[in-house]
Amino acid sequence: MAIFLENFHPAKKHGSKSGYGEHVVASRNLCGKRVVLTGASSGIGWYLATQLIGMGASVVVDGRREERLQQLRLSVGNSKKLIAVPGDLCEGHHRADLINTAVKQFGGIDLLINNAGIGAIGSFEQASPERLRQILEVDFFAAAELTRLAIPQLKKGNEPVLCNVNSVLGYRGVPGKSEYCAAKFAMRGWTESLRLELRSSGVDVVAVSPSTTRSEFFSSLIQTDSSAQSASLGSQSAEKVAKSIIKAIRRRHLDSILSPGGKALVWLSQMLPRVTDSLLLRYAT
Ligand SMILES: NC(=O)c1ccc[n+]([C@@H]2O[C@H](COP(=O)([O-])OP(=O)(O)OC[C@H]3O[C@@H](n4cnc5c(N)ncnc54)[C@H](OP(=O)(O)O)[C@@H]3O)[C@@H](O)[C@H]2O)c1
Repeated sequence: MAIFLENFHPAKKHGSKSGYGEHVVASRNLCGKRVVLTGASSGIGWYLATQLIGMGASVVVDGRREERLQQLRLSVGNSKKLIAVPGDLCEGHHRADLINTAVKQFGGIDLLINNAGIGAIGSFEQASPERLRQILEVDFFAAAELTRLAIPQLKKGNEPVLCNVNSVLGYRGVPGKSEYCAAKFAMRGWTESLRLELRSSGVDVVAVSPSTTRSEFFSSLIQTDSSAQSASLGSQSAEKVAKSIIKAIRRRHLDSILSPGGKALVWLSQMLPRVTDSLLLRYAT
């Protein structure tokens, strides 16, 4: 079951106290690593960028809001290690710009973090076909196509990693967020396939799944029911989620669900799917 895959790494062996067999797999050092990070103009991406710069990495970031990316640059003391490439990830030329900038300015890519994402809340039946297309476009297709461009560089990288920021809703569908769940389920299947395809090339594929996070995600929803509430009970700060993501990358955890509530939901959903349905109908609509 997926939840038992958390923190699983093929280098770990069963039966040893450390869980790593005879030799402990060293933490990945992010100092000097060359990173492409999407969606850094707010929320989790903003904190990922500042933490990576603090650790000595060089980072190319994107986001559509140019002024926010300028603020991010200021917040890291105008460090030359942070390069902002504003633009829309749904456009192929912007995706190519991100990769080309990292190659030209840093000489390659060691880490790609697909973090940018959008959502919507409301009935699928009453929503437009465009809502489905738009969410899949940003949350899945853009990430997949950016990755396709990055793979040749990652294969030449130093301890290379692809990190996909997924969601607990990539494990469990909930009412009112059908398009978002579809995109995140797609990301999970694609991530698992890619992990195996890239195994022999040495590129690690890491998936991290936050639960509700306090960020601009809910104020940026492309559509929402007037009755919809952004659940804040048990939510985590974007800064804390970013720290957990960095930890997963450093410690080579391949699949991480980042909150106790998220782990409980995924576990319950796998063990007692009908009970989970009832609970979701009662508390999540
Ligand atoms: N917040 C949560 O409760 C939660 C829970 C689980 C998973 N996640 C996932 O965590 C990731 C980050 O979300 P967040 O909570 O930090 O939300 P956020 O504060 O809204 O940040 C989303 C980022 O994505 C960027 N973005 C959106 N559309 C884009 C596009 N077309 N092109 C380029 N950049 C784009 C936004 O920048 P611009 O607006 O400037 O373009 C922003 O920087 C997402 O993948 C989300 O699905 C969030």
